[in-house]
Amino acid sequence: MVNAHSDEASNGTLAGKRAVVTGGAGALGRVIVTTLAAAGADVAILDLDASGAEALAEQVRATGRRALGVGVDLTDFEAVQAAGATVVSEWGGVDILLNGAGGGAVSFFHEMTAQTWNTQIERNLTTVFNVTRAFLPSMIEQKSGRIINIASIAAISGGRLVRGATAYAAAKAGVVGLTKALAIEVAEDGITVNALAPGAQATPGRDNDTPERREALLDQIPTRLLGEPQHLADTVVFLAGPAAVNITGLILPLDGGHSI
Ligand SMILES: NC(=O)c1ccc[n+]([C@@H]2O[C@H](COP(=O)([O-])OP(=O)(O)OC[C@H]3O[C@@H](n4cnc5c(N)ncnc54)[C@H](O)[C@@H]3O)[C@@H](O)[C@H]2O)c1
Repeated sequence: MVNAHSDEASNGTLAGKRAVVTGGAGALGRVIVTTLAAAGADVAILDLDASGAEALAEQVRATGRRALGVGVDLTDFEAVQAAGATVVSEWGGVDILLNGAGGGAVSFFHEMTAQTWNTQIERNLTTVFNVTRAFLPSMIEQKSGRIINIASIAAISGGRLVRGATAYAAAKAGVVGLTKALAIEVAEDGITVNALAPGAQATPGRDNDTPERREALLDQIPTRLLGEPQHLADTVVFLAGPAAVNITGLILPLDGGHSI
């Protein structure tokens, strides 16, 4: 007879859980997707990059999990509600939502256009509203859920690692505020809401650093280490798993001590 414990051990701590990962085709997102799947979860990947999302979904299906790749512009409220409804009707609900879509653009405040401002807010904050709005009703209905948002250390330190990050920092600070307020709002529905605040990660975006730039960056980080995407993904699995049931409203820096 297979008991619950051995079943969990063979299938992973997230066996049977249904996860949505936005920005899943991106550098951090794809590591999160494969790590959630390795922990036993089915994964729906929502990303502007439709072919990247579908290729990754195919890779996950090859490991025996269910996976969907959905190409959608997450700044488009109606399109996101439609994509969300498709995932919920296909799977009957969602247990884990990882809001990872986003990204910064360097622009100095004194010359920033309204378009750059609006694009940064839409890409990094409105996407979190649109997607969470699409999946929260089914989580409230099932009285359980884990929402994990990717903010940034820029929300805490003002983007000291990259000058010209005001719009990005403001949007990510919005994610921090949303995370805390929503955590309070849905706590009694059995839903936790937390955010990661990564510092500089060892993603391809860093590959073009000059030695001087890399040295200046490491001088800002007490551990002198860039974040490893795998460590971030393992933290997502922890926050989505059974040990984190009573952790909510947490903003967790993954930054080598930069924000101390
Ligand atoms: N890489 C880092 O050092 C770092 C540090 C702190 C925070 N972050 C945050 O982590 C997240 C992932 O970063 P990354 O380095 O993997 O970036 P990335 O550019 O590799 O991936 C971002 C993904 O989001 C998707 N995306 C962007 N806008 C979208 C939209 N409107 N609709 C649908 N999909 C959209 C992109 O297509 C891409 O696949 C971002 O929110 C970023 O701000 C990254």
